[in-house]
Amino acid sequence: MGVLQLIEEQRRAALATVPAEVADYVAAGSWAEISAGEAVRAWQRVRLRPRVLRDVADLRTATTIMGSDLAAPILAAPSAYHGLLHPDGEVATAAGVAAGGGLMVLSSRSSASIEAVGDAAGPWWYQVYVLADRSLTEALVRRAAAAGARALVLTGDTPIVGDKSKAPAIPVPPSLRHVNTGRHLAPAVLADDAAALAATTQDAGTGMDAIGWLRDVSGLPVLVKGVLRGDDAAECLAAGASGIIVSNHGGRQLDQAVATADALAEVVDAVDGAAPVVVDGGVHDGLAIVTALALGAAAVMVGRPVQWAVAAGGARGVEALFEALTDDLRRAMALAGAASPEALDRSLIWRPQPQG
Ligand SMILES: Cc1cc2nc3c(=O)[nH]c(=O)nc-3n(C[C@H](O)[C@H](O)[C@H](O)COP(=O)(O)O)c2cc1C
Repeated sequence: MGVLQLIEEQRRAALATVPAEVADYVAAGSWAEISAGEAVRAWQRVRLRPRVLRDVADLRTATTIMGSDLAAPILAAPSAYHGLLHPDGEVATAAGVAAGGGLMVLSSRSSASIEAVGDAAGPWWYQVYVLADRSLTEALVRRAAAAGARALVLTGDTPIVGDKSKAPAIPVPPSLRHVNTGRHLAPAVLADDAAALAATTQDAGTGMDAIGWLRDVSGLPVLVKGVLRGDDAAECLAAGASGIIVSNHGGRQLDQAVATADALAEVVDAVDGAAPVVVDGGVHDGLAIVTALALGAAAVMVGRPVQWAVAAGGARGVEALFEALTDDLRRAMALAGAASPEALDRSLIWRPQPQG
């Protein structure tokens, strides 16, 4: 079975097991869902120039990203509250990603404890929102570092949460919402739903200085997620970032934000080899991965398919997804004439000749 068929099968199985409002929440984009709707198509618009006779008998998908050895350059994008999708939540996801040879990015809106995920995971990074109460963020990133996270991912595109018009914010039970923050909140705050929510929402005043602050308090390298412009990428690096993640948050924040397939090259050019660039958004098969690597990405992240996979089959479902993605990448690389990820470059991308 091809990877797109597996994703569709897992999505259908997930719809049969999770409540409809949870499935709608996963699928949703913001406003008219333009960015969410075009993400996959934007990769499919690219046309490729395969090479011939390149000896792909010993093809290798394995790669190293920021010191972590992976079976393929494929990461699980951070996403909130897997406890709504499977009883073992992010522990199941982390175990599946590890078995599939990938790297897990754990959302700071995790419904499993940071330590439990650290125990179950292979290589993993911790995604951060700088919260209204900065001491909470400091406590969380210190715990992530102690639990074995190898980097932080600061999500920069979410000063406030985008309105998913077709799927209003779902009520997340406090038992899931405060699994990690709960122990750092005063009992009176924790007991008061509104106060606990206020303390744990994003600080809309977060600026570039957060990058260096997070690096200093955690001792970990920081990647910035949500970058869609070359000038922003350069500013993030100047402020101390060790990596850039091109993302429009799965079309869930500013709608009509440029497709990541279209934004990637500008960011790669601005970074100019100074740091790894990762990309997500509709990267759901080997062709999209090959295209992203050819444009200069060091790795890709996969979002919603991982959520359908954990809902459909727990750790085994996620492992099957990573194996299918890696198989499909292998097939696409072989047919493109690239025996290793490093063999992919911009010459693979076809550009229309100017008329006249
Ligand atoms: C239900 C859901 C929850 C998400 N939660 C987070 C989050 O907590 N932090 C974050 O940085 N990104 C979050 N994202 C965005 C993903 O990390 C990623 O950018 C996006 O899903 C990639 O696009 P894809 O779903 O087309 O693969 C979420 C996405 C979805 C669909």
